[in-house]
Amino acid sequence: MFHFLKKNFTRSGNIEKDIVKKYFDKTQSLMFDKKAASIEQEHITDFTKDYQCRSILDLGCGQGRYSHCFKNYEYYHGVDFSESFISNTESSERRKFSCSDVVEFYEDKIYDTVLLIGLITYLEDEDIKKMINNIKRMMSSNSIVILRSVTLKGTGPKKIYYDSKKGLINRLRFLKPRYQIIRRTKDYELELFSSLRLLKMKEIPGTSYTLYSFAK
Ligand SMILES: C[S@@+](CC[C@H](N)C(=O)[O-])C[C@H]1O[C@@H](n2cnc3c(N)ncnc32)[C@H](O)[C@@H]1O
Repeated sequence: MFHFLKKNFTRSGNIEKDIVKKYFDKTQSLMFDKKAASIEQEHITDFTKDYQCRSILDLGCGQGRYSHCFKNYEYYHGVDFSESFISNTESSERRKFSCSDVVEFYEDKIYDTVLLIGLITYLEDEDIKKMINNIKRMMSSNSIVILRSVTLKGTGPKKIYYDSKKGLINRLRFLKPRYQIIRRTKDYELELFSSLRLLKMKEIPGTSYTLYSFAK
């Protein structure tokens, strides 16, 4: 985790979706370096190799990076509320993008694989639970959810908030729009996803990422 972020974490706070949306719309930045992104992709490819990933729902898809990583899909649907990300994507017959809030997103369709990559850090607990309820309605008994989160380690609090408003120097230094995130421990995340069945869990070496797969 970036050191400048660490200092400004607090035990209470709240995520305002408009602030998160504005941040991604304005910066069009995915907040990770190329090395971490490529380590993550390798691990996700390996982690999912035993699953059938023919139809993929990618919630919080950003620029649709994972539509390039899963080579053999038949249908991919990326959903993100950032208009600037979605307007730069290219749709095709087997690849679709929608601009929508993932918490409200539901369609009458069953997906093999639902990706939640780097998303839940921008969602409050209640929104995550609401999103999981919708996801479950788009899953069969063979479908899986792949979650990649940035996990909080150590013996301190189970959940912390960061808001760049609280660190004026940070904002001036980077001249970026206001930014908010939540970090949670693995146990906390597992509790949030307890209405799904955990299949596998793995920490990605060299990063603070944790990968999980779940079934219904
Ligand atoms: C760190 S980026 C990850 C993007 C992509 N999953 C990847 O790994 O390349 C987080 C994405 O989640 C999106 N996001 C955050 N909250 C959202 C919400 N409530 N509804 C839709 N998208 C959301 C942001 O716009 C951003 O594109």
